[in-house]
Amino acid sequence: MQRIKIAPSVLSADFGRLAEEVRSVCAAGADEIHVDVMDGRFVPNITVGPLVVRALREAAGDVPLDVHLMIEEPERYLEAFVEAGAAVLTVHVEASVHLHRTVTRIRELGARAGVSLNPSTPTLALEPIAPELDRVLVMTVNPGFGGQPFIEACLRKVQQARGLLETRGRAGWDLEVDGGVGPDNARRVVEAGANVLVAGAAVFGRGPDDRGRHADRIAALRAAAEGR
Ligand code: DX5
Ligand code: ZN
Repeated sequence: MQRIKIAPSVLSADFGRLAEEVRSVCAAGADEIHVDVMDGRFVPNITVGPLVVRALREAAGDVPLDVHLMIEEPERYLEAFVEAGAAVLTVHVEASVHLHRTVTRIRELGARAGVSLNPSTPTLALEPIAPELDRVLVMTVNPGFGGQPFIEACLRKVQQARGLLETRGRAGWDLEVDGGVGPDNARRVVEAGANVLVAGAAVFGRGPDDRGRHADRIAALRAAAEGR
């Protein structure tokens, strides 16, 4: 079985102390730092661009940055995000018309390429692009905001994506799940085939009165995911 990786999503961090929050979760055992880039078009929210990714790169030290692009025409910004320090760059199937070209370009730039599916997009959309990928990201909420409830129906898609990767001889590749993941459902997500768990609220808390305790929260999530 692949090692389970916990990727705290900085969307739920305290943005006034972002570097400090990132240093804290890295010290607390985060395997990757998940950065949600939103453009106010592909999703209703607006977040950060390459400048902030670069600052996070410094704060994260040797912990890789997992940059999740929820933007239209992501191909326009691939160089900027890789230069800023993205180790993994994930684009949405729904946002890139020439997906094959986009994914090929990410790898040419030296980053690992991921493709993400919204909850309503069938897993079949991965089929033609699977050989070009390093990672698949299955959304288990509608992208745009942290702290939303997990959509149970998406678990089936995680199983389907795992099956697809295995039949294509890609069993060692990462299968990431993003949205509403916490200790209550982490085990089911892993049993469905995921090995990278994004967690915003479950690691950074649900607001100003619920900050800190990063090491405990990451440990609880990892223990649940590993069935301990
Ligand atoms: C949602 C983002 C997620 C989000 C996850 O659009 O892609 O990464 O921050 O946050 P939680 O874990 O709180 O659902
Ligand atoms: Zn995300």
